[in-house]
Formats: sequence, C-alpha cells, structure tokens
Amino acid sequence: MRLEELKETLAEASQVFVLTDENVAQYWLPEVEHWLGCEQAEEIVVGAGESHKTLQTAQEVWETLLENNADRNAILVNLGGGTITDLGGFVASCYQRGIRFVNVPTTLLAMVDAAIGGKNGVNLGGCKNQIGTFTEPLEVMINPICLSSLPERELLSGLAEMVKYGFIADDALLKVNETNYEQYILRAGDLKRDIVDDDPTDMDQRKVLNFGHTLGHAIESFTMTTESPLTHGESVALGMWCALWLSIQQCGLHEEVLIDYEPKLRSLLAEAEVELHPEDIDAILSYLDHDKKNKDGHASFVLLKAVEKPIIDEEVPDELVRESLLELIKLVDEL
Ligand SMILES: NC(=O)c1ccc[n+]([C@@H]2O[C@H](COP(=O)([O-])OP(=O)(O)OC[C@H]3O[C@@H](n4cnc5c(N)ncnc54)[C@H](O)[C@@H]3O)[C@@H](O)[C@H]2O)c1
Repeated sequence: MRLEELKETLAEASQVFVLTDENVAQYWLPEVEHWLGCEQAEEIVVGAGESHKTLQTAQEVWETLLENNADRNAILVNLGGGTITDLGGFVASCYQRGIRFVNVPTTLLAMVDAAIGGKNGVNLGGCKNQIGTFTEPLEVMINPICLSSLPERELLSGLAEMVKYGFIADDALLKVNETNYEQYILRAGDLKRDIVDDDPTDMDQRKVLNFGHTLGHAIESFTMTTESPLTHGESVALGMWCALWLSIQQCGLHEEVLIDYEPKLRSLLAEAEVELHPEDIDAILSYLDHDKKNKDGHASFVLLKAVEKPIIDEEVPDELVRESLLELIKLVDEL
C-alpha cells in the first residue's frame, strides 16, 4: 500500500489511535501524524521499554480504546520500536476480536524485524512473548529519518538482528555496520518477508528467524532481573555466539565462522555492560523451560551447518548448552 492509499484508509476509519511510548512521543509523534495525515488521532502514550510489554499495559490501552468508544472500524497506529509494535499488534488483534493496525517502526530493530511478519505479544511472569497472536498489520510504513534520534546502543541492537539474517540467509548482511546499515534495511526486511510468507505461523522454516534467540531470550529475561539489563539485540548477539559454538560441536560448522564473528560481537556490545557470571547459568537456563522453542521438554535450537545453511529443531544435550554459556562468559570477560 502506498502512502497516499494508507492516508485514505486512515481518513475513512471511524477513529485513528496512535500508540507510542514516552520517548518516541517526544521526537516523532507530531511529525508522523502529519506524515500520515492523522493529526486528529487520539494519542495513547505508554512507558518506554521491555518492562512495559505486559498484560497490564495492554489492559490500559484496551481501556483507553473503550473509553473513547473505539469500534471495529477504528485503526491503531503503532509508532515505536519492537516493544510498541509487539504490544500494539497484540492489543489490536484482540480488541473487539480484532481491529486493523499499522506499524510505523522507529528503531532499526523494528524496521528490519519486529514490525514485519505479524507476530505480536506481551511478556508474562518475566518470560518473553508468552501471550500473543499472529496477526498481520495492514501496513508497515518505514521512514529511516526516525533513526536520527535513536541512541547508539539501540542502533547496535538493530544491527544484531541484521547480522542474524547474514548467518541464516544472506552473508552480505554479515558486513553490516554503523556506517553502512541504511543500504541493507530493505534487503533485511525483504528477507524476513520472504521467510514469513512461506510459513506465517512459525510451524516450520520461519523458525530459522530464531537463530540466536533460544539462549538470547533466556539471557535477556535473566538480565531484566539484574541491575544491567541487556537490549534484545545485545542478548541475541550473545545467543548467536552460543548457537555458533554449538553448531561447531554438533553440526560441523567451520570454526572460522565463530572466530570471524568475535570482533563483530565486540562491536555489537560496545555500549553494553555485560554482567554474566558462571553462577548465573542455572538462572539463565531456567528461562529455557518456558521458551516456546522447547520441544518435548528439551531446548530446541536453530543451528548452522554453514553460513546460510540453518537447521531448525536441533535438540542439544543440556550439558552442551551449559558449556556453551560457560565458554561465552569466559569470552565476554576478555572482550
Ligand atoms: N514480533 C517480532 O517478530 C519481533 C522480532 C524481534 C524483536 N521483537 C521484540 O522487539 C522488542 C525490542 O524492540 P526494540 O529493540 O525496538 O526496543 P524498544 O521498542 O523497547 O525501543 C528501545 C528504546 O528506544 C526508544 N526509541 C524507539 N525509537 C526511538 C527513536 N526513533 N528515537 C529515540 N528513541 C527511540 C524506546 O523508547 C526504547 O526506550 C523486544 O520486545 C523483542 O521481543 C519482536
């Protein structure tokens, strides 16, 4: 859908609501409303960050929709990073059994990943994405100008998801960095679109997108309980290191791939304070029990036979998973 067409659709809706967070609201709310021609929209501003991706926030947004008499012909515009597109997609997909929503991603991570593909949801009990639906947005409108206000650390977080596409689908993306990322945004989004189109409900090949996420999510959930929470991308960058290490042990991946990744990992973690210790491993592993990537009680991984040759549903013995974390923690201490 082109911008003009989207503007017409928004103009024809019974009401337009714009959901955003307190940071994005400061920078982009009036500009984006103007861009979409919906200056009269009702604004719903929630707290920023992963800790607000909860059922409680969803309920607050539902109540605001109800108080404003939103009906099934209303449209919700989700303006923000992956936290907002995940939350807003979930809210819209459940409100009155589903209203239309548009994603306007404002982080690199959301532009290349979270806003695309219809997976949405909220966290529950400290575990990521436990409640959600598969519902496609009406449209994803990307305007890279929004990245001009993005903090460096959040940019690096998005680069990590782009590197993921490099490992699973197109090695050109392994070259992505802070100076050249703009030229890869469309390519990364197209890769995600293609993978999702083949498997919209994540039953088969879409699982390749979880490369680095099995342990990445566990690390992210664990650090959310500490003084030094890591971003989603930083956690995935660490999870990818473990996945590469496990791929060498279990799938014959060349060791050079891991060695080549280490400088990249260092740069992706440049703004992070990684506080992981061997005594944290049990706590990190406890989050794997709740991971949807689990199969028959075993953590199930996406591993690589080679770059661009992912294998899904790889069962890895618990001891090897533990060892990968121990090796990661040793490496991070040296970084
Ligand atoms: N649904 C999916 O397919 C999918 C895929 C990947 C990640 N995710 C989810 O995405 C979330 C992470 O998304 P994220 O990294 O975008 O985090 P985020 O949405 O929490 O944004 C990170 C921070 O940047 C701020 N911010 C956003 N845009 C800004 C801008 N333009 N200028 C200044 N500040 C800005 C936000 O307020 C927040 O503080 C996680 O919850 C993850 O689980 C979902």
